[in-house]
Amino acid sequence: MTKTYILATENEQETINLGIVMAKVFLDQVICVSGDLGSGKTHLAKGLAQGLGIEKHVTSPTFNILNVYQNKNKSFYHMDAYRITDEEMIYDIDTSELLEPKGISLIEWAENIDFILPDTCVNVYIEKTDKEEKRIFYITSDIESIERMAGIVYENTLR
Ligand SMILES: Nc1ncnc2c1ncn2[C@@H]1O[C@H](COP(=O)(O)OP(=O)(O)OP(=O)(O)O)[C@@H](O)[C@H]1O
Ligand SMILES: [Mg+2]
Repeated sequence: MTKTYILATENEQETINLGIVMAKVFLDQVICVSGDLGSGKTHLAKGLAQGLGIEKHVTSPTFNILNVYQNKNKSFYHMDAYRITDEEMIYDIDTSELLEPKGISLIEWAENIDFILPDTCVNVYIEKTDKEEKRIFYITSDIESIERMAGIVYENTLR
């Protein structure tokens, strides 16, 4: 059974903070993100990397498609599938670790490669709003993980 958690962030730092929380909950999972250009997918990736303790600056892998970052035994796989417009293109890339990460994977424009993605993906959809810096996140995963995440978000906002 899955559940969708909906929350808003009011600026890029809040999106990074959401990524830090998600890194605690979704260890060893693939996070599949879709949403408009400039909606905040890469900022969510920056937060996930921070949450894994990766110090290297995360930048958009638009041109190289897949970036891998390492912190001790944890890896962060960051793919941008924006340019994968032809199914064949994905088969030129070794996606074995990306799809079974020892750490976390985040795939931007995941809808472009949905035919290789596991059913167990955490799905994230980011929506822009008419407020310049406000974004709505729709995060879908198994009920226990979503409730754990909601608990951490709630505790953080109380502080
Ligand atoms: N709440 C917010 N969360 C994330 N980014 C925000 C937010 N409000 C404003 N921004 C701005 O929106 C932009 C988001 O850029 P980002 O590269 O993360 O988007 P993206 O979805 O990865 O884009 P692309 O589709 O080009 O890969 C940045 O300029 C950031 O400063
Ligand atoms: Mg991006």
